[in-house]
Amino acid sequence: MRTHYCGDLRATDIDKTVTLFGWVDRRRDHGGVIFIDLRDRTGIIQIVSDPQRTPDFYPDAESLRNEYVVKIVGCVSRRPLESLNSKLSTGEVEIYADTIELLNRVDKQLPFMISSLETESVREDVRLKYRYLDLRRDRMAKNLQLRHKVIKAIRRYLEDKRQFMEIETPILTRSTPEGARDYLVPSRVNPSQWYALPQSPQLFKQLLMVSGCDRYYQIARCFRDEDLRADRQPEFTQLDMEMSFMSEEEILDLNEELICYIFETVKNLKISRPFPRLTYTEALEKYGTDRPDTRFNLTLVDVSDIVKDSGFKVFAEAVKNGGKVKVLPIPGGNETISNVSIKPGGDLFKKATDVGAKGIAFIRIKNNNKLDTIGAIKDNLSQQQKTELLARTQAKPGDLLLFGAGETDIVNSSLSRLRLVIGEQLGLIDHEQVNLLWITEFPMFEWNANENRLEALHHPFTAPNPEDLDNLTTARAQAYDLVYNGVEIGGGSLRIHQKEIQKKVFATIGLSKSEISDKFGFLLEAFEYGTPPHGGIAYGLDRLVMLLAREDSIRDVIAFPKTQQASCLLTQAPATVDEKQLKELQVKSIYQPESKIE
Ligand code: AMO
Repeated sequence: MRTHYCGDLRATDIDKTVTLFGWVDRRRDHGGVIFIDLRDRTGIIQIVSDPQRTPDFYPDAESLRNEYVVKIVGCVSRRPLESLNSKLSTGEVEIYADTIELLNRVDKQLPFMISSLETESVREDVRLKYRYLDLRRDRMAKNLQLRHKVIKAIRRYLEDKRQFMEIETPILTRSTPEGARDYLVPSRVNPSQWYALPQSPQLFKQLLMVSGCDRYYQIARCFRDEDLRADRQPEFTQLDMEMSFMSEEEILDLNEELICYIFETVKNLKISRPFPRLTYTEALEKYGTDRPDTRFNLTLVDVSDIVKDSGFKVFAEAVKNGGKVKVLPIPGGNETISNVSIKPGGDLFKKATDVGAKGIAFIRIKNNNKLDTIGAIKDNLSQQQKTELLARTQAKPGDLLLFGAGETDIVNSSLSRLRLVIGEQLGLIDHEQVNLLWITEFPMFEWNANENRLEALHHPFTAPNPEDLDNLTTARAQAYDLVYNGVEIGGGSLRIHQKEIQKKVFATIGLSKSEISDKFGFLLEAFEYGTPPHGGIAYGLDRLVMLLAREDSIRDVIAFPKTQQASCLLTQAPATVDEKQLKELQVKSIYQPESKIE
């Protein structure tokens, strides 16, 4: 029987005989005395085998190698003064091994070193192929434990303090419109019909409100077939919540409490409330994005009105064509940002042009602060325009003004990218800081130029602001996102609970009557049987844990993630299946190796 976990042993355990199980993290032979770092999921303890004090099992200690699995029985002793290790939580003690039982050995060369003392960096594809070994490593084991603690805190808060019930919803279901492609599963018993894996439990959680469940939550697996990035997986986990009879303010308040509870429980960190808020419009104006990183103070300034009649064609035409001219002022940027990085071929130039900008116009404000010393565009600006520009941007001698001019979306996305890169380059971001921010008052719809129609910015079940019901196309939604240090970690809304409004929203996004009844007839019918007003939110649990763990990729907080190509290197999924299985499903592949996937 195990008596202790390795990492839990302390000076208070001295003189106890303990039984431990674990892996050999490393073995050191110090001229006759053998030291073994024994590791389990809680940490490491030093085991000593000495030919004089513990002669019986000394030969066994000698034969141990890295990652062998062993059982050790021995007495806890105080370490001699010279070998105290303040870096280890168990560093005051060690165990003289009275017995060592080898439970299993390692038969192959390890693909990489596992000990936390190893500093070698391992390629991610190798780590993913041998994920079971990667998860033994300190960093990953800690991340999994943190994830577990976050989920535990969520359950404690929602269940014990706020009367939420966890309810599971189906995985084999119909398409839920969250905007990504579906993963489809063919039905054998209903040939030619398909289930879709849920992109979120959105419709089921709303139906649970119709059922009177009142407060629902679920740690829910979601599936979206979309382009992958560091913060996107095809299969990811949401903390999904829905509640009845609560106003937007009450929902935000409860969620702030939840988030503060998580921070306090897992990080021992007090976050002040209420969280700041920005409307969607304000966020785009000031930061060019609806998920701004507000840990640093650079903000965009709209100067369209000042330069619209200037002789500088790029500016004048941008405004004439309905676009904008915005400035990102960089204090001290005249010194810190070189022309090389702004001009074609430079790193900043590339960041801006990657998202559609044609280039970056700029003005350097020289140290003598004479207006006529400003750079390239100056000859085409009148004295008054220059004065207004400097006043509006509050630019000082030594500053740099970076301009974006053209379509508003492109101006915003390129300047917001530059803002982030420059913030990082100039060391303006305090990585210790936690900034949580609500974005509110999203528009209900955005224009999808490819499909030539409006589409829901969140999803079509979001309730419009009651003040905007006269013209739905421009209505604001009662929707909110939570942004944590520039990452969207959650989003939700009040929902439509009246059939007529829901039908109007479906019509606004271009669904025909028959499509509405085919896809959402069941929802509209449910709305006829007494649906309570309700609303909710879902958090990207992986993203939240990634940020809490200070990792850059959600793959590092998911036990078995997929690669950028949506494959699992450990099990080699996806894989081909037997012809027989396809036949049973009445499915035939038309794939030809040279055919391109759209
Ligand atoms: P939404 O689509 O905004 O809302 O998703 C909620 C949160 O889930 C996270 N997320 C992802 N995380 C990892 N990989 C992905 N591919 C991925 N996609 C989204 C984000 C996001 O904020 N049903 C609504 C919620 C609601 O209205 O209640 C929904 O799913 O952190």
